[in-house]
Amino acid sequence: MLKRTHNCGQLRLDDAGREVALAGWVRSYRDHGNLVFIDLRDREGLTQLVLNPETQPDVHRLARTVRCEWVIAAKGLVQPRSEGMANPKLPTGQIEVSVRQLEILNVSTTPPFELDNASITSEEVRLANRYIDLRRSEMQQKLRVRHQVTKITRDYFDRLGFWEIETPMLAKSTPEGARDFLVPSRLHQDCFYALPQSPQLFKQILMISGIDKYFQIVRCFRDEDPRADRQAEFTQIDVEMSFVDSDDVIGVHENLVASIWKHVLAVDVTLPIPRLSYARAMADYGIDRPDLRFDMKLRDISDLAKQSTFKVFISTTQDNGVVKGLCAPGGGRYSRSDIEKTLTGFVADYGAKGLVWSKVANADGRLALNGGVAKFFGPELQKQIIKGFRANDGDLLLFVADKEAAANKALAPLRCKLARDLKLYDENSFAFVWVVDFPLFEWNQDEKRYDSLHHPFTSPVEEDMAKLESDPASVRSQAYDIVVNGSEIGGGSIRIHQPHVQRRVFDLLNISKQQAKQRFGFFLKALEYGAPPHGGIAFGLDRLIMLLTGTDNIRDVIAFPKTQSGLCLLTQAPGEVDQKQLDELNLRTQRHSHIVERKTNDQR
Ligand code: AMO
Ligand code: AMP
Repeated sequence: MLKRTHNCGQLRLDDAGREVALAGWVRSYRDHGNLVFIDLRDREGLTQLVLNPETQPDVHRLARTVRCEWVIAAKGLVQPRSEGMANPKLPTGQIEVSVRQLEILNVSTTPPFELDNASITSEEVRLANRYIDLRRSEMQQKLRVRHQVTKITRDYFDRLGFWEIETPMLAKSTPEGARDFLVPSRLHQDCFYALPQSPQLFKQILMISGIDKYFQIVRCFRDEDPRADRQAEFTQIDVEMSFVDSDDVIGVHENLVASIWKHVLAVDVTLPIPRLSYARAMADYGIDRPDLRFDMKLRDISDLAKQSTFKVFISTTQDNGVVKGLCAPGGGRYSRSDIEKTLTGFVADYGAKGLVWSKVANADGRLALNGGVAKFFGPELQKQIIKGFRANDGDLLLFVADKEAAANKALAPLRCKLARDLKLYDENSFAFVWVVDFPLFEWNQDEKRYDSLHHPFTSPVEEDMAKLESDPASVRSQAYDIVVNGSEIGGGSIRIHQPHVQRRVFDLLNISKQQAKQRFGFFLKALEYGAPPHGGIAFGLDRLIMLLTGTDNIRDVIAFPKTQSGLCLLTQAPGEVDQKQLDELNLRTQRHSHIVERKTNDQR
């Protein structure tokens, strides 16, 4: 095989006259009768090869047999492209390689889709033929960024004295709140390992062991219902530190984020990253992961709405509900049918019972509400509403009346949709925020009990500790989430390190001593042996890469992802297994048991 001297993205005009050897895949092939041109592709780029029948008749003849995606190696001289043939879009566009020696290293069946037309190929076809899909430079670019980020992360933590330590994949169920993937044990029949939802308890135990600063780039498994930015198997940058408070953890990690953005995108993240309390986030944006690339805050106008003559507003506020809304700058351009069909339909998908609107317009030199709900509001109420929203001529006001949580659920996505439609922000900008002061518990209405908002090992805020039993709903936690452009890329907390506090929290969560012992006994025992104050965080690596590469498809940043329903279309996992394997595990599937039952019945 010809010995490769350069890659296909490397050669420039300065290299003219050099003898080089390249290897790669045939991206395209053009036969101009006398001259044959081949675009040769590898991970680093494209180089044009040219084959001349007059100087190299044998090589030229061989080149005419070559087809797309064949693997070849070529040796020849770098030469400037002839007058007018340079391609300014291509880094190697000034040169070509005039081939003197050609080797066909392998042939290829015609690929199931054209690499240059992948955007019109269905994702199923791309996933089923991932080896072809990953040849595309767009996909390789994302894998490259992923490599860069893990490398920056490892170097960063190494400089700060963190150790990367692996924790088990075959483990016991951990408490992140999703369903576990279970692995049956052959040696301990009828027992199961759980694949880790996160290394949470192991990293806390490492702190008890005096490791002080730990990190790991680690696979986590959660059998969750599908969502666009989730995979059942995903990767965390997982960190834990001893003798720290929230400010320490936040400080270390905002520097990491700034370092990643600087290296990968040459973007300067302004530090410190602003912090927003959970309560403010919910009030102003209706969500705990607000997109702050644009303002458009929500406002509660219940007090004014009460004084209107609109029945829905009056009955909702009397029934402990709120009237909340937003002002879309320039939204006046939406037609009545846009609002009443498209926007109302949009919020209905998020459970809203309706959407009322009014435009803001100049009337006799003064701003007034115009259309929609305007007629139910007198001039003074209109003035106050307009002032509250700082609305202008041409804006659109939209309101939902409901219980606050339900109104937020509809308005938060509506806010993002409007900002996108009205182009209120620069698509290439980043808005970072730490959301802090979360409540420790959230009320589970279905089961009539408290759940942890993060996980049950999160420490309450010191000064709220006294209210744990008397007013649990008001207790804040020492948790923090980092949010970028409305996506939660990481979250963590200062942990409980004293057994008696952990006990009180379990009591409030209705976790009995018995249950606690059975589920986390090993950890509670470890806590008795001098746990240092500690805390940490985990970033969703896949989500970080999505933001850095500007994709909203998590599968695009994972080499071998699964579909929304958890299938690997490449390998066809999950698949059935042999009866022998099941027998060794002492397992019987429902389907098999039917067959076995039927057989037994037949034998009778
Ligand atoms: P949490 O559950 O918030 O915290 O997870 C941390 C981050 O991981 C990412 N993430 C996911 N990414 C892709 N697919 C998923 N299914 C998925 N689930 C979570 C998110 C999230 O912010 N042990 C704690 C961390 C800690 O307290 O230190 C934990 O796992 O970006
Ligand atoms: P209705 O009285 O149900 O015909 O509704 C009159 C208008 O109020 C319609 O435009 C509905 O979309 C709107 N509407 C009804 N319920 C709500 C609600 N809870 N919040 C906001 N608007 C609503």
